[in-house]
Amino acid sequence: MMKIPFAESYKIKMVESIRRSTRSEREKWIKEAKYNLFNLRSDQVFVDLLTDSGTGAMSDRQWSEMMLGDESYAGASSFYKMQNAITEITGFPYFLPTHQGRAAENVLFSALVKAGDIVPGNSHFDTTKGHIEFRKAKAVDCTIDEAFNTTLDHPFKGNIDIQKLEKVLSENPADKIPMIIITVTCNSSGGQPVSIGNIREVSSMAKKYGVKVIFDAARFAENAYFIKLREKEFARHSIREIVREMFSYADGMTMSSKKDAIVNMGGFIALRDKEIYRQASVFNIMFEGYITYGGMSGRDMNALAQGLYDGTDFDYLESRINQVAFLGNLLKDAGVPVQFPIGGHAVFIDAKRFLPQVPKEQYVAQTLAVELYIEGGVRAVEIGTILADRDPVTRENRYPDLEFVRLAIPRRTYTNNHMHFVAAHIINVWERRNEIKTGYSIRYEAPIMRHFTVELEKI
Ligand code: F0G
Repeated sequence: MMKIPFAESYKIKMVESIRRSTRSEREKWIKEAKYNLFNLRSDQVFVDLLTDSGTGAMSDRQWSEMMLGDESYAGASSFYKMQNAITEITGFPYFLPTHQGRAAENVLFSALVKAGDIVPGNSHFDTTKGHIEFRKAKAVDCTIDEAFNTTLDHPFKGNIDIQKLEKVLSENPADKIPMIIITVTCNSSGGQPVSIGNIREVSSMAKKYGVKVIFDAARFAENAYFIKLREKEFARHSIREIVREMFSYADGMTMSSKKDAIVNMGGFIALRDKEIYRQASVFNIMFEGYITYGGMSGRDMNALAQGLYDGTDFDYLESRINQVAFLGNLLKDAGVPVQFPIGGHAVFIDAKRFLPQVPKEQYVAQTLAVELYIEGGVRAVEIGTILADRDPVTRENRYPDLEFVRLAIPRRTYTNNHMHFVAAHIINVWERRNEIKTGYSIRYEAPIMRHFTVELEKI
């Protein structure tokens, strides 16, 4: 009997051409881009794994919804469509549309976070941390230690260490802790899930200390998929049941809909408490737009509502996460060091184990990311020292425990042939890794979130 291979639960209706290039073209382009992959033009890239954010392919249902968008300034039917989808899927009664995830953070934190505050969580995403530090508050990483050992097998490397959390909660007054942030899945630790068991523990500890729990929910559906597969209690639950269970322990959420709602632009805040909703509404109107559109077109709100249903479908999630695992396993089987288990949205290469000879002061993960681009026209992203920014007080580089090169897979966009292509190029670099001895120095950097605009020079 043949073993039946996995097949995607969709077929392709529209395609977009992508262009190959030569190695010498890429060497010239990346130099012109100051060795910053964000500065490349998309047509200089063959397979673009910079991010899974806003880069997915919408479904025919989402495109049909675009045509039905209601562009009224106030009270558009599209707003109510989005509200119904959010309430049905998350259970939160109040919501505010925003133009993307960081805008949701900006609005909610404007209402809740003040100077001197402390915000514990599991490896806060860079914009989340940026919005906390911008307000002169502090993000404290309470992720479990297992997450920082890429060779260790653990089903929920996104989990919060309850002892670390209790230390923060017991040593600081509750009015200095506006919220605990649980990022599902945890992007910075490798797209790693958080278990319901852990969410329950965090929630009960938060209740004990009178602190709110907010989810950074960009990849909540991928998190639910892992719970279904890895947490016994939920093996027979549907994805939507698991999602409802996850959110039942939270006071609210910020959402970058460019991930698990599979739209190219959009976000929202959803809340249980009317008073916080009212406070946040003031900032939404100031920064984003009126409360029934908040920076989004009616058509985009429609596509987002449909995307929440698409994105919480088991068959879709299985295709999605299997493709990420497919790439991850090609690399792992060839000996390339990757964060293990493979995450939900991306494969994270452990750059320190890939290039141990490159000094950390020369940006190891960035060095590898540039090398992969030159090798095959594959664009990945550095999740390492450049992204970690400088300490806001000492202005010294912060060297994170892990230096990652992230290969983020856009949703429903590339085929497994593309994954083979990417893997072959990476394995070729792996085989000649000893030739790569030096990295880069910084010529220009912004004071915060420097990775987007940094300019580098080859050492
Ligand atoms: N939270 C998480 C966990 C994220 O991964 C992102 C974005 C945001 C918040 C901010 O959302 O981009 O819509 O403003 N992550 C993208 C990435 C950029 O490539 O991982 P946004």
